[in-house]
Amino acid sequence: MPSTPTALDIASIRGQFPALDQQVHGKPLVYLDNAATTQKPQCVIDAVVNFYTSSNANVHRGLHELSARATKAYEAARAQIASFVNADAAAEIIFTSGVTDSLNLLASTLGASTLAEGDRVLLTHMEHHSNIVPWQMACERVGAHIDVIPVTDIGELDLQAAADLVGPQTKVVSCVWVSNALGTVNDIAAVCRLAANAGAISIVDAAQAGAHVPIDVQEIGCDFLALSGHKMYGPTGIGALFGKRERLEALPPYKGGGEMIQSVSFAGTTYAAPPARFEAGTPNIAGAIGMAEAARFLASLDRDAIHAHEAALNQIATESILQIEGVQLFGRSANKVPILTFNIDGIHPYDLAPVLDHYGVAIRTGHHCTQPLMDRLGISAAARASFTIYNTREEVDVFIHALTRARQLLLG
Ligand code: ALA
Repeated sequence: MPSTPTALDIASIRGQFPALDQQVHGKPLVYLDNAATTQKPQCVIDAVVNFYTSSNANVHRGLHELSARATKAYEAARAQIASFVNADAAAEIIFTSGVTDSLNLLASTLGASTLAEGDRVLLTHMEHHSNIVPWQMACERVGAHIDVIPVTDIGELDLQAAADLVGPQTKVVSCVWVSNALGTVNDIAAVCRLAANAGAISIVDAAQAGAHVPIDVQEIGCDFLALSGHKMYGPTGIGALFGKRERLEALPPYKGGGEMIQSVSFAGTTYAAPPARFEAGTPNIAGAIGMAEAARFLASLDRDAIHAHEAALNQIATESILQIEGVQLFGRSANKVPILTFNIDGIHPYDLAPVLDHYGVAIRTGHHCTQPLMDRLGISAAARASFTIYNTREEVDVFIHALTRARQLLLG
């Protein structure tokens, strides 16, 4: 079994997340819905509160002290995120509202500038709807087509099949790094190499990766990478899009408005250089500051110890859940994060979740915004327990106990 950090380490991490210290229905909260959104450490909460308490003003606009402070903090947040993903420069980071917004930005602007009739966009069968629907919209507009890398029975990408799907018309390869429904950690560097060898643009959906995997955009060799703040212990409504400088410079604007222009007249408008070109309107300043604090928090942790802890949680939870009669577990890759998506014979996941909630255990049920993957698995919905750094072995036990009792109750 993989080694784990001492109980004291995890206790000290947990102690930084105030929302974990509460009871639900009279039971200690066991929060296992981290793939939907993570809880927030006190340092992130404080960063947001401090900004509104002492520095709130608009950025890049005012010649007064508070505006200067807000601008400095916002641009420092950009630099922090650049360092978090090992970008070459802060200007390679665009603040968006999250991965969905970033992928819409890319599908829309690449659709307008790069995709043409007959071109192909390569996705995978395990994508979240946010990495499918924007491409369908963009492809429909220009007459381009989508190809799909298949997923094997254990929930891994079939990269041999992927190689056969790439051709001269492939202009974009957009792939999830860590699957929100399977937990699989894809070989994202291999996918980016495949794209580069074909002369295609590579895009990485790092929504789940943000909390679980150290990110180095230069090492994986991607053109673009999208993060959501709230899935990596930051606030909701904020995300960051990394884009290689030359790729960003080649993109047209996405939204029009203040801040993204060089000059405006009724005769025509010229646009600012990136990143401002892609940040029309007043940005989510407090969100960016909170997200940067979350990145600082993550960077301060021993990532190897965290990886060992999560691997141990995954192993013990997987072994335990498979002891329960009638459990089907989806996503059995050896290379995965502790996301357990499962069904129990004879029980609808929507019936399961409220019983677990009664035991204080929060899980998610549904199609997880991955309906094509659900079709591939031959199901319409599933329950999902997603663990992260602050979850404990004791919580695995509570989860398994609650599941066993729920099964008894629901099957009679
Ligand atoms: N994409 C998020 C999830 O998997 C909402 O739950």
